[in-house]
Amino acid sequence: MKVAIGSDHAGFLLKERLKTYLQDKGFKIIDFGAYSEERADYPDFAHPVAKSVETKEVDFGLIMCGTGNGINMAANKHKGIRAALCWNPEIASLARQHNDANVLTLPARCITEEEAIKIVDAFFSADFEGGRHTERVNKISNFS
Ligand code: RB5
Repeated sequence: MKVAIGSDHAGFLLKERLKTYLQDKGFKIIDFGAYSEERADYPDFAHPVAKSVETKEVDFGLIMCGTGNGINMAANKHKGIRAALCWNPEIASLARQHNDANVLTLPARCITEEEAIKIVDAFFSADFEGGRHTERVNKISNFS
């Protein structure tokens, strides 16, 4: 499994922790920054991660900022990106099963590292269920 990751300064420490966690599990990681806790703008990291998922360079994206909202909004500007802001494992599983989310977004300042790991595990072990959810997911990007 190949995953692009990114965060602003508020998500930096959690990103580093999750990068190591996923690499230890055998995931291939492309890290688009931030590379320190120096103040940075979340769209600068959302866009390269989203692009990497859009172009199928990676299978999924994993992004985080303080609340998760800003970086999630930026990622969802990309066609074909379904970024889901998840703060517990159940929401993360359902984001894959029902919404076919291809980017997992975390609120780094609002969850613990242990919670983040459980959310990441739930997201990457769930599959899209298809069926009745397919038409709904298709309607997301048909809106204009
Ligand atoms: C940074 O202070 C913070 O605003 C950012 O990480 C995020 O929470 C925005 O949505």
